[in-house]
Amino acid sequence: MKFETPAGTNPVDRLRVVGQPLDRIDGPLKVTGTAPYAYEWHDATARAAYGHVIGAGIAKGRIASLDTAAAEAAPGVLAVVTAANAGTLGKGRMNTATLLGGPEIQHYHQAIAVVVAETFEQARAAAGLVRVIYAREEGRFSLAQERDNAIKPQGGDIPADSAVGDFEAALAGAEVTLDATYTTPDQSHAMMEPMASLAAWDGDTVTLWTSNQMIAWGQGDVARTLGTGRDKVRLVSPYIGGGFGGKLFVRADAVLAALGARAAKRPVKVALHRPLIANNTTHRPATIQRIRLGATRDGTLTAIGHESWSGDLEGGGPEAAVQQTRLLYAGEHRMTRMRLATLDLPEGNAMRAPGETPGMMALEIAIDEMADKLGMDPVEFRIRNDTQVDPENPERPFSQRQLVQCLRQGADRFGWDRRAAPGTTRDGRWLVGLGMAAGFRNAPVTKSGARARLHEDGRVTIETDMTDIGTGSYTIIAQTAAEVMGLPIDRIEVHLGDSDFPASAGSGGQWGANSATAGVYAACMKLREVVAERLQLDPASAEFVDGEVRAGGTAVPLAQAAGDGQLVVEDAIEFGDLDERQQLSTFAAHFVEVGVDVYTGETRVRRMLAVCAAGRILNPKQARSQVIGAMVMGIGAALSEELAVDEGIGFFVNHDLAGYEVPVHADVPVQEVIFLDEEDPVSSPMKAKGVGELGLCGVSAAIANAIHNATGVRVREYPITLEKGIEGLPALP
Ligand code: MOS
Repeated sequence: MKFETPAGTNPVDRLRVVGQPLDRIDGPLKVTGTAPYAYEWHDATARAAYGHVIGAGIAKGRIASLDTAAAEAAPGVLAVVTAANAGTLGKGRMNTATLLGGPEIQHYHQAIAVVVAETFEQARAAAGLVRVIYAREEGRFSLAQERDNAIKPQGGDIPADSAVGDFEAALAGAEVTLDATYTTPDQSHAMMEPMASLAAWDGDTVTLWTSNQMIAWGQGDVARTLGTGRDKVRLVSPYIGGGFGGKLFVRADAVLAALGARAAKRPVKVALHRPLIANNTTHRPATIQRIRLGATRDGTLTAIGHESWSGDLEGGGPEAAVQQTRLLYAGEHRMTRMRLATLDLPEGNAMRAPGETPGMMALEIAIDEMADKLGMDPVEFRIRNDTQVDPENPERPFSQRQLVQCLRQGADRFGWDRRAAPGTTRDGRWLVGLGMAAGFRNAPVTKSGARARLHEDGRVTIETDMTDIGTGSYTIIAQTAAEVMGLPIDRIEVHLGDSDFPASAGSGGQWGANSATAGVYAACMKLREVVAERLQLDPASAEFVDGEVRAGGTAVPLAQAAGDGQLVVEDAIEFGDLDERQQLSTFAAHFVEVGVDVYTGETRVRRMLAVCAAGRILNPKQARSQVIGAMVMGIGAALSEELAVDEGIGFFVNHDLAGYEVPVHADVPVQEVIFLDEEDPVSSPMKAKGVGELGLCGVSAAIANAIHNATGVRVREYPITLEKGIEGLPALP
């Protein structure tokens, strides 16, 4: 099905199932521990052996010698695979460094070997017997030091620079200006389930039960790495314990499980142990961002400039932290610029809302600072500078943009009018402050396929390689099929995450919910046609209601169309250029109340509200869950999350969940989420968008702004740990 013109009325608009706050259909499996995750496929592979991965002990250089003899002789060991005995390996398109390093080492904890043994403990113990001597080379580990060597990145999907009008002249002539620099640190996805895979070979074909967000990308990259055809690789990933972008790509667990299984002639399972993950896999790269703004005295932005520096390994790309600045506010003269430094730190890549998350962390403090300078309320300042068109290409409207409505409703609901001057509100030992920020995240669409099968008993089964990373894909896909086929949701079965199924959008960039359900819509609409034809009813007028097909005064049970066999159809949604002619984005307003301990500088978030406008909400219960989860992630980003770089040897020191501090329950206050009524016919037949990433974009700045309101201290370096603000706290009585 081609989607080239805005959607008209269609069966989804009935909203009997879609749009309802239904429980997750996979919920019982999850809460009873019976949803099989990648490391748990015991039954299928009773004789699986265990692989333990060894990570490089240097960031840059070579392996001078690697002695595996003692490990090979250790109890239970079946194989030790290294680059020296693995045969020729290729590299995945989505990987910057190779997944099995040696003799050249590209980053700290790059995998250099996998030890395979009968038990996990034997594999781990034997791994400790591998002796490695390195020839270490100097590396570049400091973004601040390499900033001046950063270059304009070449290629990539997102242009490095943009310019409209004459930014420098407009800034120079502006009545009120701001020039400030903000930093965001390296961050780790810290999902609950580690990267894990079980590999089993059958002849020259390998099946990987793995934890991966993008099955079709992964299948291709495993094939490229192993030097085989994609038809020789099957990926199975029905349940995923979180990803946040860390599982968009195949990682060492998958490749080393495959190589280990080939060497040991047994199925092999490999989970990356937690202390390896931060350095071995990808992370959100640190940024330095300079923002310059110019405005008239009455608060109209006339000049908007945003430059961002980030680093990556040779061959990597920039963190696109200026993306939202190209779209969020009006302003006649504009300039954005991304610069990329080469660093020998582990590979940077996507983490939940790559680009906009750190970009909004900086931009939305800058906007708050500018409102201060103008003496304007920050909500009103944002409303004053709203735009309904792409400010860089004014002929492109936003398909829907309710930022102003989000801001007004949020301010009203949160009690924004109670906000006092900075540093003036006390509650016992707490300095209390309110802060807010806009939320913004683009809503891309991408081709997505599905298969729909009508069974003899009238059930419908959906198969697609779409994944559910904890987001609720199973349920919204079942809702879509139920709505279109006119069935209750318990008559729909959903099978996901298998490369044998039609390729889908996958879970990434908050495109999954809208694109994948639109693919299921396409398949079900095709099924309706085939059903109507079989029943000799007019497909155009046939209604699918309550398990029946009705047309021309007759009603036939849907099941009858299957006859004594199954009816199977396949289709995909293919998007035309609507998203080029109009800008598809999602919007939010974030409001936060914090308390800052006047003695210690410790910040506690006390209240949070997000008002979101993100197209049709397919399932408000699940969408809310996505947004509150993202808001929690925003607390971490604002207050604690930082991979600490050892700039002497080039690795992330706090590479486990003890040292890398994510919020825990006690850190999370009352959270409220409101979705504005919205349908976006330009986005897809579902008229939906995505919320998984929107919920994170802007939250951290709202917290930073609330801290400023509480204390009068402006911190521009994330995370806002207590030592950064304590000097500026008001004097104690
Ligand atoms: Mo998202 S960072 O594209 O999984």
